[in-house]
Amino acid sequence: MDLEGKRALVTGGGSRVGRALCVALAERGVHVAVHYDASEAAAVEVAAACGGAPRLQADLTVAGAAQGLVHAAQDALGGLDLLINNAAVYERTPLETVDERTWNRHLDLNLKAAFFAAQAAGRIMREGAGGVILNLTDAQALDPRPGYLPYFASKAGLEAVTRGLALELAPEVRVNAVAPGPVLPPEDASEASIDAIRRATPLDPAGALKSLVSAVFYLIESDFVTGQTLTVDGGRSLR
Ligand SMILES: NC(=O)c1ccc[n+]([C@@H]2O[C@H](COP(=O)([O-])OP(=O)(O)OC[C@H]3O[C@@H](n4cnc5c(N)ncnc54)[C@H](OP(=O)(O)O)[C@@H]3O)[C@@H](O)[C@H]2O)c1
Repeated sequence: MDLEGKRALVTGGGSRVGRALCVALAERGVHVAVHYDASEAAAVEVAAACGGAPRLQADLTVAGAAQGLVHAAQDALGGLDLLINNAAVYERTPLETVDERTWNRHLDLNLKAAFFAAQAAGRIMREGAGGVILNLTDAQALDPRPGYLPYFASKAGLEAVTRGLALELAPEVRVNAVAPGPVLPPEDASEASIDAIRRATPLDPAGALKSLVSAVFYLIESDFVTGQTLTVDGGRSLR
């Protein structure tokens, strides 16, 4: 896909990785719709940095919200060529504390909303000139760290959805995933936990976010690649 002039929806585009993706896409001539849930002020800034991009608010844990968001992006942009399922929840959930609300929050946002957004976007793209769907999963999706099982289960499901949708939506729509490792530490991470992650990661984290953005661009632009997951984890999964 040639990016110039294409129309993209980035979920969770107001902050952190989503913000970096929105800005990088806009710099390449893509018309971006910035989705946010709680971070309105941040989304206003990102939308301004993207040349006055439309901002779309939605709590994607609500039934039907993902499909509604995709249609709102289609209306705001005059079509849709690219969907990036970036929004996610990542909460520490020791096994004995996991209840159905916790489980549902992770599965509803990280897996179910991503699936229904992709279903709606895939339909629009197939009726148009085709498109690309990109899912943000996790380098440890199939090798979960203790204490985060609902999160990793949701990301493992999203890996399966990526491969399944790639088959179902070919050849008009390509579906791939980027699986980040420790790219940006959670905002409430302690210095000790950040140091421990650094020691466990062979490569310098300084280039992590740039590499993640490059991986996303590679998968968007590579017309003979679908159903793949590109891991960007500084070699952490090698240890
Ligand atoms: N950061 C990393 O190093 C890392 C590592 C592995 C995987 N990943 C994956 O990469 C992606 C981006 O990572 P990140 O660290 O930038 O993510 P993040 O900061 O944890 O969250 C991304 C976005 O999710 C949105 N969100 C939260 N709850 C929502 C809800 N109920 N409805 C709609 N949107 C909601 C937030 O929007 P609002 O703020 O507007 O509510 C936020 O902008 C995620 O899928 C994450 O799992 C990241």
